Amino acid sequence: MSYFEERIVRVQELMRKEGAGLLIISPGANMRYMTGFTDDSLERMLLVFLFPEGEPRFLVPELYAAQVEERAAFPATHVWRDGQGPYVAIKDILRTFSGGKVLVDDSMPAKDLLFLQQLLPRAAFSPASPLMRKLRMKKSAEELHSMSRAAIIADQAFQKVVERRLSGLTEREVAKILEEEMLNAGADGVAFEILVASGPNSALPHHRAGKREIEPGDVLILDFGCRVDGYCSDITRTLVCGDPSDRVCKIYEVVLTAQKRAMEVARPKVLAQEVDQAAREVVAQAGYGDRFIHRTGHGIGLDVHEDPYIVEGNTLPLEVGMTFSVEPGVYLPGEFGLRVEDIVVVTEEGVKTLNCCPRTLQCVD
Ligand code: CO
Ligand code: CO
Repeated sequence: MSYFEERIVRVQELMRKEGAGLLIISPGANMRYMTGFTDDSLERMLLVFLFPEGEPRFLVPELYAAQVEERAAFPATHVWRDGQGPYVAIKDILRTFSGGKVLVDDSMPAKDLLFLQQLLPRAAFSPASPLMRKLRMKKSAEELHSMSRAAIIADQAFQKVVERRLSGLTEREVAKILEEEMLNAGADGVAFEILVASGPNSALPHHRAGKREIEPGDVLILDFGCRVDGYCSDITRTLVCGDPSDRVCKIYEVVLTAQKRAMEVARPKVLAQEVDQAAREVVAQAGYGDRFIHRTGHGIGLDVHEDPYIVEGNTLPLEVGMTFSVEPGVYLPGEFGLRVEDIVVVTEEGVKTLNCCPRTLQCVD
């Protein structure tokens, strides 16, 4: 049995347990997870229908049929043509539906959902994420292998960047270098738009790489990652162009200690929010509690941000195989921000980091 077939069996078990009569997956991480195939296109209806028993039904626009045949673990069972539309094919698929909840992919376009709701007027629709997360949160050895490769490629790109003179380059130019290094090392692409925040921009946690030129004395936050086999990496390192001030060094030490503390606390059965609290306590004790303005981390896999979220209020107990970021930060508006981020996997003994490059505050020219 291929691992895609195993996943279908496990999803169907969960569907039966939870009284779901139908699960509908649209293009995105869930489709990739279930079939090995996905595409960005959401214009034409491309959907996987899964019932509690039997084979998946794959509704495919004709222009995707060859790609699905080549890359998906399951055949395109219902191919529809432009000019004909998907209606007849969907009607045929839905004849198998015999009641129960209908779970829909959280990223399904509203137009598809509204169309399906018209076809099943009496069915109760709900999001598929509570079921899908049960499978996707815990990574298999193959998934971890892809994630480790993605992490190491990002580490290597970082090492290449710190060897260069960055002063005088724009944030965008640094982002371009990181991207090229990752692609040259074998990444399929970037996992998300690369973030390079220099000087006062570093105080904005989601600043994108812009036109600002890096100057001596700047703090620099690089937050980036790539994809391997669809799986993401995500790493943040803070640099200083020239010599760091005592204040920067002191606060960076706090951020680093917060990350270390969170990693020490994380192990099976510990609640996700306890990992967040551990990091937050360190930052608060140093007097910067109100400057740590985001959650401590997020799960990662086929999506850059997925369950489990390492955030206050998440009482989910950690389990072996879960992967998430640990990324505390302190942001002083108008001055600078500091963050460090690594991806960890939960093991029997605690957590293991997938990234290997040093976390110390690095100085560059
Ligand atoms: Co990141
Ligand atoms: Co992150």
